[in-house]
Amino acid sequence: MSFIIPDGDSKAEYVRQKFSGIAGRYDLFNDLITQGMHRYWKRFLVAKTGIQPGGKALDICCGTGDITSLLEKKAGREGVVTGLDFSNGMLAVAAQRNAANNVSFIRGDASVLPFASESLDTVTVGYGLRNLVSIDTCLGEVYRVLKKGGRFLSLDMGKVKLPVARQLFAFYFFRIVPRIGKLIYPGENMFDYFPESSVEFPSQEKLAGMMERQGFIDVRFYNFYLGCVAIHCGEK
Ligand SMILES: C[S@@+](CC[C@H](N)C(=O)[O-])C[C@H]1O[C@@H](n2cnc3c(N)ncnc32)[C@H](O)[C@@H]1O
Repeated sequence: MSFIIPDGDSKAEYVRQKFSGIAGRYDLFNDLITQGMHRYWKRFLVAKTGIQPGGKALDICCGTGDITSLLEKKAGREGVVTGLDFSNGMLAVAAQRNAANNVSFIRGDASVLPFASESLDTVTVGYGLRNLVSIDTCLGEVYRVLKKGGRFLSLDMGKVKLPVARQLFAFYFFRIVPRIGKLIYPGENMFDYFPESSVEFPSQEKLAGMMERQGFIDVRFYNFYLGCVAIHCGEK
């Protein structure tokens, strides 16, 4: 039987607890299932933010803080870079990894951003939107906190259009990925949640439309691996 994703608040609580539980080896899992490619996609995403030295950046659903630390490299010592997540386990790993960096991490909900309106140059999210109860609410918040001209970047799973590739990808994601996860954390059902959470996630075109409805302009997306993975970009 396939995995049933909990609804509403139960989904948020499930996601929060489960990510805390796998935080210690989350990066290893990501390296294994993407053959290290997530590192390249994250560098691509950060390059597209256009963040300059001294810039103000927020990485929501920051997890272990790898995108956060790439942002810090661009914003430098004069910059203000924050990672936000609601999982204590993930935040602990992120803080440890970034101990020597000029970043701060805060516990918070990506749907209620604790930042003043028009205060940030860029907001990023890696594999985060898929886990939210309401993507629209989060996009509205991101739009609010960005300065005019500020950019929002999201990296997440995409929909593959080519039929054969779609089947191959579904086999990999639904059959192989959970097995890899369970090798690292035996018995953990979180790894069945991963593929299921991508089923209802909007297509590249639909997510672009959702961003435009919040007011983002110049919205575009970049497909990788025939659209298995996509990076969306929009400007306020
Ligand atoms: C798949 S991980 C992504 C981590 C990292 N951004 C990356 O690209 O690898 C998703 C993260 O989103 C966080 N998250 C999910 N829903 C959230 C919410 N509503 N508010 C804040 N963080 C959330 C989880 O705790 C988890 O750390």
